[in-house]
Amino acid sequence: MKDIIFVIFGSTGDLTSRKLLPAISKLYSDSQISKNIEVVAVGRRDYDTAAYLDYVVDTDNNKLNKDILSKFVTYYKMQITDQNDYQGLKTYINTISGPLTKQLYYLAIAPQLFDDVAKYLSQVDLVEKNNSHHRLIFEKPFGHDLDSAKKINQMLWKYFDEEQIYRIDHYLGKEMIQNILMVRFANRIFEEVWHNRTIKNVKIMAKETDGILGRAGYYDDSGALKDMIQSHLLQILSLVAMDAPVSYFSDDVKNEKIEVFKNLKFDKQSLIFGQYNGYKDEKGIDEKSMTETFVFLKTFVNTPRFKGVPFYLLTGKKLDVKESVIIVEFEETTEQRKWNLPLSTNKLYIKIAPQDGFGLSLNSKVPGLRDDVENVEMEYCIACQAYGNMTEAYEKLLLDISEGHKTLFTRWDEIELTWKFIDDIKKLQKEPVIYDDYETLEKLIFDLEGEKMS
Ligand code: BG6
Repeated sequence: MKDIIFVIFGSTGDLTSRKLLPAISKLYSDSQISKNIEVVAVGRRDYDTAAYLDYVVDTDNNKLNKDILSKFVTYYKMQITDQNDYQGLKTYINTISGPLTKQLYYLAIAPQLFDDVAKYLSQVDLVEKNNSHHRLIFEKPFGHDLDSAKKINQMLWKYFDEEQIYRIDHYLGKEMIQNILMVRFANRIFEEVWHNRTIKNVKIMAKETDGILGRAGYYDDSGALKDMIQSHLLQILSLVAMDAPVSYFSDDVKNEKIEVFKNLKFDKQSLIFGQYNGYKDEKGIDEKSMTETFVFLKTFVNTPRFKGVPFYLLTGKKLDVKESVIIVEFEETTEQRKWNLPLSTNKLYIKIAPQDGFGLSLNSKVPGLRDDVENVEMEYCIACQAYGNMTEAYEKLLLDISEGHKTLFTRWDEIELTWKFIDDIKKLQKEPVIYDDYETLEKLIFDLEGEKMS
């Protein structure tokens, strides 16, 4: 009997070859996960396991190792929209599972197919409602607005209990995002000053250099607001703004995140939508498309802790650098003003990508005879110390799913409140500004807010 059976629907897709199989291979090779695991790669193509492995290894430009994969992957051919094919899958799974086997069903497929797959899995009793060993995993897009997300969710709750559902937001698996609560609450120097009396503003930015990379069908319906803000950036914001939880167990952390979402407001005047020059020429994009590939907005978290502090959110494609960062800027000290020197404010940089780590900028005297001041930065670079051996987000997420840890997965009420917030912004959607470079956008923001977004 296997300890873990990991069934992937959509096994010939990009997500499987680029993220899921590499992460499972690494966990397997590092003995972080039971060696008694089987990955059942479900697909409709007429492959056997050897042909499937050749296909995924080739798709991932030989980064995957076929010898390792062959130790735990089995290809299973079926039509996932055909109810009759599920009995066969069940018979196969029954031959390798026992009552204690963890059965993890990963839907790496379009959300329109969730309904059929969830229903059929349940009809043949492959997945039993309330059996905590049976888990369902998927990632966004989770609907395209509040109504559609509700519909998908109600459908899933017919067959699964909320405890069995793992909604992936891959940003939550990133090292520095997992580290936010630790940096805030395990350091007296930050814990004491993490509020509106000392924090001037917070900037949360996810900039990308790539365009839409052939994802026209999905992206043109979505745009940057839904693609990045509804999920990744709002998740980061909630971790930065939440109050200390009663405990660090999943539900207590989520209860505090929920308070942030309930108190989240945005400034209508601050909205900037942009579209990169050339977007309309991308394959599959309508020449009149108004979809935004860049968005900037100012939000406020109206809790006693953060009332009045602007949280600036910015994300976009085809910008100057690939960089995700949180910048927490502190107020000047009262003493600082007496020196009458060009002192700057302290900033804490939580660096998510490309190099994980943090930095703290401080004012310091320039060594020497004069009373000059300079801005110095203290740096902690995780990637520099890990020597190319950084854990990938998906490794952490898949490990947590196999162990039943839910902190890094989003609960339904988080999804519900974030969609509500996004739907309200969507109503004010404006024609996007066409941009060639980040400088143009930065100037626009500076003119509007007097803030330099770097
Ligand atoms: C995905 C979005 O969720 O995140 C993509 O759909 C985006 O459009 C990607 O490119 C960014 O992720 P990362 O990890 O590269 O910052």
